[in-house]
Amino acid sequence: MTFRSFVVALAVTAGFAGAAQAQTKLTIGFSQIGSESGWRAAETKVGKIEAQKRGIDFRISDAQQKQENQIKAIRSFVAQGVDAIFVAPVVATGWDSVLKEAKEAKIPVVLLDRSIDTRDDSLYLTAVTSDTVHEGRVAGEWLLKQTGGTCNVVELQGTVGSSPAINRKKGFDEVVAKNPGLKIIRTQSGDFTRAKGKEVMESFIKAEGGGRNICAVYAHNDDMAIGAIQAVKEAGLKPGKDILVVSIDAVPDIFKAMADGEANATVELTPNMAGPAFDALMAYKKDGKVPPKWIQTESKLYLPDTAKAEYERRKDLY
Ligand code: AHR
Repeated sequence: MTFRSFVVALAVTAGFAGAAQAQTKLTIGFSQIGSESGWRAAETKVGKIEAQKRGIDFRISDAQQKQENQIKAIRSFVAQGVDAIFVAPVVATGWDSVLKEAKEAKIPVVLLDRSIDTRDDSLYLTAVTSDTVHEGRVAGEWLLKQTGGTCNVVELQGTVGSSPAINRKKGFDEVVAKNPGLKIIRTQSGDFTRAKGKEVMESFIKAEGGGRNICAVYAHNDDMAIGAIQAVKEAGLKPGKDILVVSIDAVPDIFKAMADGEANATVELTPNMAGPAFDALMAYKKDGKVPPKWIQTESKLYLPDTAKAEYERRKDLY
């Protein structure tokens, strides 16, 4: 049952028989990217919990990392006549025509955790994301401070063409550009996955004479960092010491690695993107309150001193 076809139910209670009560239930379609990382799985889980709290019918479609599947899912949600569509766009470009179809059907679209490249920002109601350029900057500034500004860095980028990969690189590069002793000596995509993070790190280590020339790995997410840690260990080096590890997400596994001395810093990306998105959408639907185009979530740096406590606090939430 959708919001727009909203139902007036007769509430018959003992003391007030025959009273009419308006009942509304939102139906929201969510085109999720897939489950490439621990963070992504957490975002899906938290989204379901937040939907349940608000009594929302939340229909999730898993795109298996493919934009074409996301486009199909959005079309299917339009055909179902949902009240709103949430999208976590796998890449930044190529959304205009399908979002125009949603707009023509008068279905608001909310972007979750990733942004898109478009000249027409009327194609979506709001975007709930962190400042991903800032995240890259925070990681770079941490490394600068930690190394005194001299460090050969290898970089594991996220999915090619995705907004966090583009922006996390950009933010980190800004710090590198101002500090000539910080050098990115190798950079490649590990597609935000643990397996590819490991594979690419292995190739970096091989290409850099067994890894001794590498001072730090900057991974665009924690999962790739975990994969890289494994590769560093298998190469006979100590992650967190011989090669520093800085990444983004703040998932439980990276806190475990930090507590074990194998990782050094992470920048938090909250998995609760859906909560603020539901609230903005409900205020829009109920009271016509138009949200800002960007609802920014917080990005906080975490270091090993709180790692054990953070691991305990988060391990069951994810
Ligand atoms: O868009 C957010 C990024 O996507 C997360 O940092 C990463 O883990 C995920 O796959």
